[in-house]
Amino acid sequence: MQQEQIIAVLGKPYFSNDNVMLYNLDCKKGLEQLAEHNIKINTTITSPPYNIGKEYEKPLSLNEYIQWLSEISNLVYKITTNNGAYLLNLGYLKVENQARALPIPYLIWDKINFYLNQEIVWNYGAGVACKNYLSPRNEKILWYVKNIEEYTFNLDAIRDPDVKYPNSKKNGKLRANTLGKNPSDVWQIAKVTSGANRSAEERTAHPAQFPEDLVYRMIMGFTNENEWILDPFLGSATTAVVALKNKRNCIGFEINANYCEMAKRRILETELTVKTSEAILF
Ligand SMILES: C[S@@+](CC[C@H](N)C(=O)[O-])C[C@H]1O[C@@H](n2cnc3c(N)ncnc32)[C@H](O)[C@@H]1O
Repeated sequence: MQQEQIIAVLGKPYFSNDNVMLYNLDCKKGLEQLAEHNIKINTTITSPPYNIGKEYEKPLSLNEYIQWLSEISNLVYKITTNNGAYLLNLGYLKVENQARALPIPYLIWDKINFYLNQEIVWNYGAGVACKNYLSPRNEKILWYVKNIEEYTFNLDAIRDPDVKYPNSKKNGKLRANTLGKNPSDVWQIAKVTSGANRSAEERTAHPAQFPEDLVYRMIMGFTNENEWILDPFLGSATTAVVALKNKRNCIGFEINANYCEMAKRRILETELTVKTSEAILF
């Protein structure tokens, strides 16, 4: 993807450097423009609003919400390369008189044109403690691919080194892969904590930040160096900073100007850290 092509279609970004383009724009408008001009991107990694009354959401009826998210996802399909993927993080929502916390994937998984390759369960250790029902401790990531015959899966890059019997042998050969085991479809990764004395180092003022470790596993497992990754709901720019740290590029849309400014500052700080560590190495 050439940055000039994108600029020709979307205009000057709110912020950009060699590896990141950030647009203060409704992603639907941005995606429609990219699709109209046949611009393709390898992989999309994102966490959309869940329609649960967060400060960054416009409340929609359940049908309107599912319709909106399906439309965005199908625009993502249009702009994805043939070997590309769509990693969609989804939580829960309340359905009046029907469900306290319905997993959003139940409502949307088959309204998206991609092939659903797998559902990943993101399990986190801490969260709200409930009295009348079980404390929720997971969200999902729907791993969609465009072409089931040709997609990126870098298993060695995301192997889990925590192997129970690393020295076990069969016919004189080690049984276990020395790089570790397949990390499975359940990923235990802590949420970004906040609050006095327990705030995570990566915490920003954004109310719904992705943990960098979660994005790291998706980027390393499902994308290749130098590729472009799209996050249509960039928020505090977690996808962009993890991309930058791992030799990938990122284009992001964010509708809220305050979050864009927050994202820009975070990207600039990351750029400085990456450049400093490269200078020390060489
Ligand atoms: C769940 S948050 C994403 C947080 C992000 N993953 C991070 O790590 O900070 C969703 C974001 O989407 C933004 N947003 C909501 N509707 C949007 C739209 N139509 N186009 C672009 N951004 C939108 C919100 O302002 C919010 O920052």
